[in-house]
Order: sequence, then C-alpha cells, then structure tokens
Amino acid sequence: MKRAKKVEGSKTTMTELIMPNDTNPLGNLMGGNLMHWMDIAGGICAGKHCEAHVVTASVDHVSFQHPVKLGSVISINAVVTRAFNTSVEVYLEVYVSDFAGLNTVKSNHAYMTFVALDDENRRPIEVPQLNPITPGEIILFESAKRRREVRLILSGRLKPEDATDLKSFFQDFK
Ligand SMILES: CC(C)(COP(=O)(O)OP(=O)(O)OC[C@H]1O[C@@H](n2cnc3c(N)ncnc32)[C@H](O)[C@@H]1OP(=O)(O)O)[C@@H](O)C(=O)NCCC(=O)NCCS
Repeated sequence: MKRAKKVEGSKTTMTELIMPNDTNPLGNLMGGNLMHWMDIAGGICAGKHCEAHVVTASVDHVSFQHPVKLGSVISINAVVTRAFNTSVEVYLEVYVSDFAGLNTVKSNHAYMTFVALDDENRRPIEVPQLNPITPGEIILFESAKRRREVRLILSGRLKPEDATDLKSFFQDFK
C-alpha cells in the first residue's frame, strides 16, 4: 500500500479574472466556463495527491447561487477529502470577490471524483490513502463513503441493496 498523504500537500487554489469572453449576453460568467475551471483545479489537486495523471470520473450536483459579474475575481479551492482504491474525491469551493478583493461571497461548491491512471496502459492504478487531521478534514473524510455510494448507485455501478454505508446512514434516522 502507498504511504498516506496529508490534505495540505495537494490543496490547490485557482484564481481567475472574469473577462468578456467568459460571460453570457447578460455579462455574467457562463456556468460551463466555471465548471471547466473547477475541473482543472480539481484535476490538479487530485493529480498532486495521486502523483499520476487523473481523469474525471464524475461530477456531483453543482448549483449556481449567485451570478458572477464581468470583472469579478473567482477563487476555486480544491482539497482531496478521501482516497479509495484507484479514485479520489475532491471537494471544491468557489468564492467571488470584486476587483479590489472585497465583498467576497461563496458562489458554489461541488464534489468531483478523479481516477488515477498509469502512464503506459492508461488503466486505473492504486492511489495513496489520505490522512485527515483537522476536525473539518475528518468530517469530509467520514462522509465521503456515503457520497461515493450515492454516485455509484446513480451511475448504475452499485445496486442500492448493496450500499452498506447508506443503509446505516438511514438507519440512524429511524
Ligand atoms: C473512469 C474510468 C477510468 C473508470 O474505468 P473502469 O474501467 O470503469 O475502471 P474501474 O471499474 O476499475 O473503476 C475505477 C474507479 O473509478 C470509479 N468510478 C468509475 N465510474 C465512476 C463514477 N461514475 N463515479 C464515481 N466513481 C467512479 C470506481 O469506483 C473505481 O474507483 P475505486 O477503485 O477507488 O473503487 C473510465 O470510465 C474512463 O476512462 N472514463 C472516462 C474519463 C474521462 O475521459 N473523463 C473526462 C470526460 S470528457
């Protein structure tokens, strides 16, 4: 098994100034452009953790709470929340500020899953495990197993009756 790594080691921040070419006819950032940057930031973060090329396997629900105006500055923060066998879950948060760096608000967040591939055959390879340290890292680490089951069910890769962690999650509410 590969040595476990800390969250801090692969933490990634991407900053972009919203230019005219990034916007829709209303002068707001196109959602697809934001998702493109989130995919890149998430991929860099996952690649650093895995020390390998990664591909995006899935993107969880993304919703856009605030329009992002032309001339705004966005920061995308990406962290690995958990490593499984050949995949890692990455949590991304997007913050928007004005050009002066003021009036910062959280725009949205998402979870993405990346799979590490070997250079030669481009097949999935084992990834280093994650060693969560802070209380926030531990919460995201623990809940990642349930999110994984949800996305594997939704993508048809896991039967709902085989979802062990989700079952115990719902049993807690009985
Ligand atoms: C992701 C991919 C490599 C998985 O290949 P595969 O032959 O299904 O491999 P496996 O069955 O061994 O699965 C590998 C890992 O992917 C995960 N995975 C596959 N599909 C997934 C999905 N929809 N959501 C979350 N994880 C997924 C599996 O759970 C497994 O993770 P684990 O080893 O940590 O448990 C393959 O489907 C692929 O290449 N997809 C295209 C990726 C791509 O090009 N992305 C950009 C889109 S333009």
